Amino acid sequence: KVTYALVAVSNRLPVDFVVAEDGTESWKTSPGGLVTALEPLMRSSDGAWVGWPGVADREFAPFENDGINIVPVSLTDADLEDYYEGFSNDTLWPLYHDVISPPSFHREWWEAYVRVNRRFAEAAAAAAAAGATVWVHDYQLQLVPRMLRDMRPDLVIGFFNHIPFPPYGIYAQLPWRKQILDGLLGADLIGFQRLADAGNFSRAVRRLFGYTTRGVAIDVPGAGGHHRRVIAKHFPISIDAVAYADLAKRPEIQARARRIREDLGNPKTIILGVDRLDYTKGIGHRLKAFGELLEDGSISVEDVTLVQVASPSRERVGAYMALRDEIELAVGRINGDYSTISHTAISYHHHGYPREEMVALYLAADVMLVTALRDGMNLVAKEYVAVRDDKDGVLVLSEFAGAADELKQAVLINPHDIDGMKAAILRAIAMPRPERQRRMRALRRKVFDNDVAAWSSSFLRTLREGAAVQPGVP
Ligand code: G6P
Repeated sequence: KVTYALVAVSNRLPVDFVVAEDGTESWKTSPGGLVTALEPLMRSSDGAWVGWPGVADREFAPFENDGINIVPVSLTDADLEDYYEGFSNDTLWPLYHDVISPPSFHREWWEAYVRVNRRFAEAAAAAAAAGATVWVHDYQLQLVPRMLRDMRPDLVIGFFNHIPFPPYGIYAQLPWRKQILDGLLGADLIGFQRLADAGNFSRAVRRLFGYTTRGVAIDVPGAGGHHRRVIAKHFPISIDAVAYADLAKRPEIQARARRIREDLGNPKTIILGVDRLDYTKGIGHRLKAFGELLEDGSISVEDVTLVQVASPSRERVGAYMALRDEIELAVGRINGDYSTISHTAISYHHHGYPREEMVALYLAADVMLVTALRDGMNLVAKEYVAVRDDKDGVLVLSEFAGAADELKQAVLINPHDIDGMKAAILRAIAMPRPERQRRMRALRRKVFDNDVAAWSSSFLRTLREGAAVQPGVP
């Protein structure tokens, strides 16, 4: 049996198994920031990636894909309904994102969450060599660290939460709030996106367990009066900035960017939004601001086009179905009211696109709009910055995206303030070139200095140093 010194565990694998309508089967790159961020590390190390292959009721043997060792964990359709669509995406996701949509609490979903977390823990334990480092990811798998520690005390266990960790007043609603904290505290190091997320977590630990915390260290009482020291700290995630910059240098991608502008009818300004179709992204707020700017005559469809890529996501969850209807109604209304035969107000796309096409869109966009109501990090903002070798383009960024902690030279907005957002859009459209360049230069320094390799190496270094001083405090 093959085992590995480094094992990553996440709900979703970097590739999804897709069966087309004509029955053709293929593996496609998975959506979402987690996969974007973890891929470079896993490709450059000889580890294994344990996760779900994106399809129900199918068993796959381990295989290699694009230099990554893949260990698939199979899930039944019932698992998907209760663990993935239910507890992960209809309980935890809205709860951890400021209850923008009301979370549902169901005991059957919780039972499925426990059961499926155990299956991931078992798969990780089987793939891990003696003394291996296991790095568990995200809200779908918060019980795995504790389960793994019980199965395999020899392992070094890290956990990274890719989404926000909510303030105590919200977290406390969760009927299983203690079990989840206990699950996480099985790790040696718990990583968060923002300083505030790590603070929220430590506060919850103090409030619910009364453990002592000192700075980033939490003393967790264990057997025989010994304490384990768990570190809870922020490690803002990033992208492979150089890989994006290299794509942006390719002549065919630059040609594609010019073609996009022509195909849109050569507007003076292209505004771009790129999101999974998720209620946390503030797409409706963005459309409201854009529609009002057209209505009050501040902009015209001849001059300004909004391109909105809304990639399909979690389509069997009720809140996502309702959101799609709401957004598509709003897009249809605005286009119906303001588009002309030659100029469409909003070029809307309910698709995921390959990375090359995304880079061409970023290059074509004069203004990038990130209006999340709450977002762990938002890597789209960093991707936009990384491709802009011309030091041009304006990033309008929500204060409620983790990225705003670092990308302070963006035009920062509160997406709930529609007038403020409208003013920011107008300011971005009219911003003089020297100011655009000054801001973009500063943003690029941030993104290139703190790329995803720095993120993963700093997490893994902290994890291994921390584990080396265990068992800690008497
Ligand atoms: C976010 C989450 C990831 C998730 C991704 C896509 O980035 O943090 O864990 O994989 O969204 O969502 P999905 O439900 O399709 O995996």
